Amino acid sequence: MTTLSGNGPLRLGIAGLGTVGAGVVKIVRQKSNLLADRAGQAIAISAVSARSKGKDRGVNLSQYAWEDDPVALATRDDVDVYVELMGGSDGPAKASVEAALKAGKHVVTANKALLAHHGQALAELAEANGAVLRFEAAVAGGIPVIKALTEGLAGNDMDRVMGVMNGTCNYILTRMQSAGLPYDEVFEEANQLGYLEADPTLDVGGIDAGHKLSLLASVAFGTQVDFDAVELEGIERITIDDITQAADMGYRIKLLGVAQMSGRGLEQRMSPCLVPATSPLGQLEGGTNMVVLEGDQVEQVVLRGPGAGEGPTASAVMGDVMDIARGFRVSTFGVPAASLTETTPAKTATPAPYYLRLALEDKPGALAKLATVLGDAGVSIDRMRQYRHDDAGAAPILIVTHKTTRDALDAAILGMTTLDVVTGEPVALRIETV
Ligand code: HSE
Repeated sequence: MTTLSGNGPLRLGIAGLGTVGAGVVKIVRQKSNLLADRAGQAIAISAVSARSKGKDRGVNLSQYAWEDDPVALATRDDVDVYVELMGGSDGPAKASVEAALKAGKHVVTANKALLAHHGQALAELAEANGAVLRFEAAVAGGIPVIKALTEGLAGNDMDRVMGVMNGTCNYILTRMQSAGLPYDEVFEEANQLGYLEADPTLDVGGIDAGHKLSLLASVAFGTQVDFDAVELEGIERITIDDITQAADMGYRIKLLGVAQMSGRGLEQRMSPCLVPATSPLGQLEGGTNMVVLEGDQVEQVVLRGPGAGEGPTASAVMGDVMDIARGFRVSTFGVPAASLTETTPAKTATPAPYYLRLALEDKPGALAKLATVLGDAGVSIDRMRQYRHDDAGAAPILIVTHKTTRDALDAAILGMTTLDVVTGEPVALRIETV
């Protein structure tokens, strides 16, 4: 590692002056002495770019040159580091990051969608041009998880990485539980509070968190980013009954990302899962994020912190900028892009216990038929609970299975749907061992 003490300032060009961009400008302006002392080099801003020049962003931008075109900003002679905070997997974000890297500029971005879709090509482009491409702010906001994996845990073979990495979904699920409110009502509440992305399916469909998981998996396992292989399921189908009844069995429902390398290949799942209520993940409330890292030497490390917002995300961006100022060079995904392996996605998930919820006609022999279907599929019951039947005579049944494969469970569910005593679609959720 080299420090650049005595050189001129490290000059930033910042594209995107929303919440995060404004936060980065504030840190650079308000902490100039601290940053210079820590980096051995002053940090300065040369130029900025955003959609609307006239908008009041609560920060003084008058000293900085303005560019309407982010590509022009990215390639300016007085920009050493291009900071991309516009978002979007393609369009101006991709064009400007490519232009910066081709011009040999370092790039810091918070753009998970861009890297989830083009991470491999951009990492190769950075290396071909002697530039650094960093993305700490793209995964779990203010939690320095990429640094934790690439630096502090560099001596480990990682076994599994997990995370609650979409604060909006965790807010919705925990608010449903604490207030006893249905999904639609809490979704609307989150909307009023401005928690949802412009396209809410990015949040509740698990896509935003899936992008983050694909980046985390690449760094953890040294594999090429493969977002298309992430098994994605959102939280839209989670009902207040699922939440209260899972709680009755000692669990919490989380939109949980899990990446795991097994003999079957790389598993990447972003889906609603049950976790023990008493576990750190189970106790995670509101919009906070949590990442769990498991390595062969360290066993388990749990990181908890804010996953979004001005200060936390700008904090992560500045961590990357400071590394570049200090002359610290680490490959985008922890190893040279050419060494990242193309991994076979696992076709089947590691066996796990599952939670099943279904409605069963409350009449003699119904439970026996259900048990037979499960037994025939090789699925063993660990615990079961039946609630009093409703006016239509259907009794809610909750089952926690022993560890089973998803294939066996699907066979059992298919069998249940043919039973005349099961009403409606059974709900099945994986129970993640944490
Ligand atoms: N919408 C995200 C969240 C933040 O709710 O966590 C940006 O990734």
